[in-house]
Amino acid sequence: MTKLDLDIYLDDRDLDLALRADAREGLTASPKSLPPKWFYDARGSALFEDITRLPEYYPTRAEREVLVARADDIARTTKAKTLIELGSGSSEKTRLLLDALRANDTLGAFVPLDVSVAALRAAMERIAADYPALEVHGIAGDFTRHLGHLPSGGTRLVAFLGGTIGNLLPGERAAFLTSLRAAVEPGDWLLLGTDLVKDPGVLVAAYDDSAGVTAEFNRNVLHVLNRELGADFEIEAYRHVALWDAQQEWIEMRLRAEKPMTVRLLALGLAVDFAAGEELRTEVSAKFRREGVDRELSAAGFALRRWWTDPAGRFAESLAQAVPVGF
Ligand code: SAH
Ligand code: AVI
Repeated sequence: MTKLDLDIYLDDRDLDLALRADAREGLTASPKSLPPKWFYDARGSALFEDITRLPEYYPTRAEREVLVARADDIARTTKAKTLIELGSGSSEKTRLLLDALRANDTLGAFVPLDVSVAALRAAMERIAADYPALEVHGIAGDFTRHLGHLPSGGTRLVAFLGGTIGNLLPGERAAFLTSLRAAVEPGDWLLLGTDLVKDPGVLVAAYDDSAGVTAEFNRNVLHVLNRELGADFEIEAYRHVALWDAQQEWIEMRLRAEKPMTVRLLALGLAVDFAAGEELRTEVSAKFRREGVDRELSAAGFALRRWWTDPAGRFAESLAQAVPVGF
């Protein structure tokens, strides 16, 4: 008998308050920026799933290759009773971990956490239908704010897949890893997916596909602001930009105003001017090297136990273990 329940730490009011604060701060800053979590309403989550099937967007396929090859090793090494997944989205690749943990007879519960309640509910229902013996306990929450609510008890494996950690800025990443370490016990596990530094041509193509799906995904944040904050962004007047920052080693997505515009956000009582050519940063997607991942994990109290890449060396999966800190 499946057990299915959902804890909501982000209801409509919390989301509204957070979006207002982020929009006011980001649109009045110079240069302008918005946090990437606001891409993911139901349409944005569906567009992300479309991105994962694009020929240019290799990370999902590369990570899947690693998981196919290593899921059994991960299950045998961790013997996890609870699989927690942060930024779980559709949880499609996660099935490889669920299958391996189930085959090794340790798994009791699956805990997906996502800010996109629509994506979370849909994924939970599909997983519950396909894994009838599993307790499925969803958390509608923000992984930068709600890690204190992760369930305790039994060995936990926290999966953070897809390279989503790269969508946090370096300071946010350190704070995230530290709060994750505080939320788990020594001996618990972290499986972290990171996209790797590679040829800039391959990277830029992955974020500027020829079918224009990533451009639609990028502009979706303007649809969200128009709908949720009564804004009047003229969406087609913003061009999708994806560039490689070789110094920071990240891809940056921006929206470039093609003409001068004044945008009104009714809910904020705010008018924002865009000059022609002015850019709004909507996402960074950091790319990693092994030394950097190892350093960031150790600084937060995780010891890197395994490092695997796909055969082409495009994407890495790190298996790390929480170690005692503060003594
Ligand atoms: N893990 C999946 C989905 C990656 S897309 C994969 O590997 O394919 C990124 C996911 O993280 C989306 O589902 C989005 O809604 C979620 N997300 C983004 N920022 C978040 C945040 N701050 N807190 C919780 N979830 C977040
Ligand atoms: C979710 N995240 C890891 C994706 C990435 O590749 O940074 C989001 C994305 N942005 C554009 N395409 C995909």
